[in-house]
Amino acid sequence: MTSVTLGAGAAHATDTQTLRSGQAFYQSACAQCHGIDAKGGGPLANVLTAKPTDLTTMSRRNGGQFPFYEAFKMIEGRTAVPAHGTREMPAWGAILEIEQRGQPQGTSPSTYVYGRISELLVYLESVQQR
Ligand code: HEC
Repeated sequence: MTSVTLGAGAAHATDTQTLRSGQAFYQSACAQCHGIDAKGGGPLANVLTAKPTDLTTMSRRNGGQFPFYEAFKMIEGRTAVPAHGTREMPAWGAILEIEQRGQPQGTSPSTYVYGRISELLVYLESVQQR
C-alpha cells in the first residue's frame, strides 16, 4: 500500500485490518449456516428449522441503509427477541464473553464483545448487494 498522507494511510490500514478480522470471524463462526458468500446457504442450513437469513440483502431490506443497530442486537443476542418462532441463531454476546476471558487483562467484557461484533458488522456491510 502506498499512502499519500500519514493520516489517510493510517485510517485506511485500520479499516483494512478491521475488515480482515471481521471476515476471519465470519468465516469461522457464521459461514457454516449463512454460507461463505453470506447468502444463507451454508452446510448447516439444511438441518435447521429456520432458514439462515441472506445477509447480503440486509441493507436492501432496510430501505438501502445497513441496519447496524438491529444487526448488532441480533448478533449479540440477549437484547433482541425474534418476533416469531424459536431462535436458532446462536447468541454471540455470551460466546464472546467466554472468549474474552483469554484476552490480556484490561479489556472489559463489554468492550471486547462490542469490538468483535463491530468488526463483523464492518465486514457484513462490505458484502451488501446494492
Ligand atoms: C447455527 C446456525 C447459525 C450460525 C452459526 C449463525 N447464524 Fe445468524 N442466523 C441463523 C438463523 C437460522 C437466522 C434466522 C433467525 C433465527 O431463526 O434465529 C439467523 C439470523 C441472523 C441475522 C438476522 C438477519 C436479518 O436481517 O434478520 C443476522 C444479522 C445474523 N444471523 C448474523 C450472524 C453472524 C454475524 C453470525 C456469526 C457470528 C451468525 N449469524 C451465525 C443461523 C445461524
